[in-house]
Amino acid sequence: MSTVLTVRGGRALKGTISVRGAKNFVSKAMVASLLGETPSRLRNVPEVRDVSVVTGLLQLHGVDVRPGVEDGELVLDPSNVEVAHVSDIDAHAGSSRIPILFCGPLVHRLGEAFIPDLGGCVIGDRPINYHLEALRQFGAVVDKRGQGIRITAPKRLHGTKLELEYPSVGATEQVLLTAVRAAGTTELRNAAIEPEIVDLIAVLQKMGAIISLDPHRVITIEGVDRLDGYVHRALPDRIEAASWGSAALATGGEVYVEGAHQLDLMTFLNTFRKVGGAFEVDDNGIRFWHPGGRLSSIALETHVHPGFMTDWQQPLVVALTQAAGLSIVHETVYENRFGFVDALVGMGATIQVFRECLGATPCRFGQRNFRHSAVISGPTPLQGADIVVPDLRGGFSHLIAALAAQGESNVHGISLIDRGYERFAGKLEALGADVLWQEAAPVGVPAGAGQR
Ligand code: EPU
Repeated sequence: MSTVLTVRGGRALKGTISVRGAKNFVSKAMVASLLGETPSRLRNVPEVRDVSVVTGLLQLHGVDVRPGVEDGELVLDPSNVEVAHVSDIDAHAGSSRIPILFCGPLVHRLGEAFIPDLGGCVIGDRPINYHLEALRQFGAVVDKRGQGIRITAPKRLHGTKLELEYPSVGATEQVLLTAVRAAGTTELRNAAIEPEIVDLIAVLQKMGAIISLDPHRVITIEGVDRLDGYVHRALPDRIEAASWGSAALATGGEVYVEGAHQLDLMTFLNTFRKVGGAFEVDDNGIRFWHPGGRLSSIALETHVHPGFMTDWQQPLVVALTQAAGLSIVHETVYENRFGFVDALVGMGATIQVFRECLGATPCRFGQRNFRHSAVISGPTPLQGADIVVPDLRGGFSHLIAALAAQGESNVHGISLIDRGYERFAGKLEALGADVLWQEAAPVGVPAGAGQR
């Protein structure tokens, strides 16, 4: 049996919810604890499934992970790091991409790492070629096997000069987590500079690393011989904050997101305002609301930071179905992130997806025939429907659509949303949503669904 969420839509979401630490930072900071000789304390950790997956993986490698005294605090003690059994790693990893980031820390600590097959994903291929190439340049030996990849280091890894073909978040984190304990200096060009990466740099600096973030996407890391544990409060989840902002807009409501941080959301807030949404920032969070009247259509391109995040795109598209005129969204980060619009079209939205680049941002997908641009014509009323959640962000956007639609929707595969949205059932109730949780026989959830 699986849980189905029955949503009676057409009600404006109204109230206050809070967001905690960013899942896309917390999971990496947890991995960083492996590099320390002493325990780390990570605060503001959300109760999302990604955190449980990383906890399980760390425990398999001998890290003692337990709750700290403060609510949302984790204590991670890596004193007894050990080699884990390949089949155990495989079983724990599920469809998570986090295991790839264990490479550098494990090679430094144990001289070897095993990474299970990370599989495919519904938002694109998500290859790991940048990660493996970087590891090779540090002097690691990468041995691809049937079940996964074994990484070994005949000698201590050494610093190197690297330039990423694309400013990949994961590959930048890979380089950081590996370079901090490598011998000598590493220079990374065309690095990703997302706020979650800057927070990871802050964690590593607390541990004893020497890292400078230079202009034009250059990161320089001077390797050190020893790192210790850290005490750190995770930055708030800007994807979750923006998702609730989009939900407020699409349902004609008003949501105060406690914990939302303006500086990490500036590009989202600009776009939100251009669409016709209103917001107000105070010391503790951001209030998002629909001020009445018609929303405006926009042209939008997703991009690496400081551009408009790919993860903000899917929830906002639902609000764009209610904007007057034609909105254009050009997705330049993932080649296949519009699969979720089929369900919106089934609910009454008018959305067409194109293979051409509908925007000026240079993009890797136009020449390669990927359906990566969307034109949304609005406003169109949405009707309730039976929906199967395809992936984390697409799933949340389906949920928003169900909340905005007239009539009843049954949302299947809802557990995928737990992976990145903490206690969202309670938050929906706090915002006055009319929802009912029921058990039902599972329906087809796409292969690879839920991967982050
Ligand atoms: N890429 C490669 N080769 C690589 C690595 C990446 O070609 O070796 C490509 C990817 O295929 C993609 C692009 O580079 O087209 C960007 O991927 P990136 O490495 O930046 O993404 P990621 O590290 O795998 C993280 C988040 C994603 C978020 C992206 C972009 C985590 C666990 N995941 O993924 O979050 O969309 O950065 O900001 O941090 C989510 O939270 O729902 C989610 C998907």
